[in-house]
Amino acid sequence: MTSNVWEKHSLLEKNSILLLVGILLVVAIGGLVEIVPLFYLKSTIETVDGMRPYTPLELAGRNIYVREGCYLCHSQMIRAIRDEVERYGHFSLSAESQYDHPFQWGSKRIGPDLARVGAKYSDDWHRQHLTDPRSVVPASVMPGYPFLGRTPLDTTLIADILKTNRIVGVPYTDDEIANARLDLEAQANPDSKGVDAFLKRYPKANVRTFGGDPKQITELDALVAYLQMLGTLVDFKAYDDKANLR
Ligand code: HEC
Repeated sequence: MTSNVWEKHSLLEKNSILLLVGILLVVAIGGLVEIVPLFYLKSTIETVDGMRPYTPLELAGRNIYVREGCYLCHSQMIRAIRDEVERYGHFSLSAESQYDHPFQWGSKRIGPDLARVGAKYSDDWHRQHLTDPRSVVPASVMPGYPFLGRTPLDTTLIADILKTNRIVGVPYTDDEIANARLDLEAQANPDSKGVDAFLKRYPKANVRTFGGDPKQITELDALVAYLQMLGTLVDFKAYDDKANLR
């Protein structure tokens, strides 16, 4: 019996193609055993307090960020390395990109990392900087985006954009999808009737004009709304205490 098995094995040893197929088969099984459970085990996904899906206005701003290729110069991922943490703040958690499709981690940093840029500057600073970067940072090599402030935000597809995100796993409710357009307008207009309902759906979200005119929401308003929430959702002191990182 044993000699029989070894005889068969010598077949593999003498035939490199067969050996290669055998190796691939064994590695594939090993890989599947390790990877497949990650797709259905809930315990492999860390839930972090404070994380919520983007509001419709933030999501619209994020789409402009992607459309304009901001990721070509800016990363959104703070590495767990001392100089990064001292410059940008707490290192990024995977949960912080759980609703990002596609994620914006990046490795190209012509400009600084933006993962925690929210609330660092005023809305007016962002508007001025995005319109004409060198008017606030004289040595900046960032291009200006003056057209964003002149371009009305196209909100006609916002419900469909939420729906599409739901297909890839973002837990938007039917209610949130049905009210996407109203929520988008409410967030940029603190005086509107829809603010209370909006804040019920997206607790603690920023509600303000973002420096623009609530009667005519522009692409710049949406982009600033997105930038101003980046990195602001998680309470990192509480997170570190819970994870025993202090
Ligand atoms: C060609 C590369 C480049 C592109 C493209 C680019 N940036 Fe920048 N960005 C920079 C550089 C360099 C700086 C640092 C100098 C400055 O503040 O202007 C910067 C700074 C910033 C800052 C300030 C960050 C901080 O912490 O001080 C923000 C916010 C920002 N960019 C947003 C954007 C957005 C949004 C877009 C897309 C619409 C964009 N950038 C596109 C290069 C770029």
